Amino acid sequence: MMIKLNNISKRYVLGNVVTDALRNVTLTINDGEFVAIMGASGSGKSTLLNIIGCMDTPTCGEYYLNDRKVSELKSKDLSEIRNGKITFVFQNFALMEKYTAYENIELPLINRRVPAKERRNKVWEVAIRLGIEAQLRKLPKQMSGGQQQRVALARALASGADVILADEPTGALDKKTGIELMKILNELNRDGKTIIIVTHDSAVAEYAGRIITISDGRII
Ligand SMILES: Nc1ncnc2c1ncn2[C@@H]1O[C@H](COP(=O)(O)OP(=O)(O)OP(=O)(O)O)[C@@H](O)[C@H]1O
Ligand SMILES: [Mg+2]
Repeated sequence: MMIKLNNISKRYVLGNVVTDALRNVTLTINDGEFVAIMGASGSGKSTLLNIIGCMDTPTCGEYYLNDRKVSELKSKDLSEIRNGKITFVFQNFALMEKYTAYENIELPLINRRVPAKERRNKVWEVAIRLGIEAQLRKLPKQMSGGQQQRVALARALASGADVILADEPTGALDKKTGIELMKILNELNRDGKTIIIVTHDSAVAEYAGRIITISDGRII
């Protein structure tokens, strides 16, 4: 998936407080790239990631996915992108706490109406790949942070997305677990996935092929 932002700005207006979260951001991310977005707190990193993930819309500028203007996509195409092509791994993992690891991973497959047998195969395939077979029957609160993060990543993988977006994927992990996670992301990238992460940690950013730094809403 080719990601292209052309002069994107995002302005928030709350009463008389105006925040320019992004200012004239022009950026191309090619299919299969591994990009890290860095910058100070409040510089616009999450805003940028949310726009890339079609979870938020820019105030002005054009956003293209595979040369198609996102603002002109029909809601059916947009939900197809959100449910299939681009997937999010949130900082707090955002697992459903009443569901087991297995059920969490299965969720995007159910949303996509994948048949039961195929779902089971897929859940096991990604669980083995990420080394969490032994966790599948557990609820999120019965797992460590690193295990939960891997379940969240397994869910993203099960969705079959081409693009994986992760906001501070190692933020809640200790150093060793964080490095393990980055190695997994690296492997997925070698398999052809586009990976875009936000991080504060330059050691984490080292795993990416390209580092984008943003300051006060601008790419520098
Ligand atoms: N919904 C919103 N309404 C108003 N202002 C917002 C909103 N979301 C973000 N902002 C503002 O936009 C700016 C950029 O926010 P953003 O969340 O993108 O920063 P960030 O770089 O991800 O920061 P952090 O590292 O702390 O997560 C901040 O000044 C923030 O206060
Ligand atoms: Mg953020």
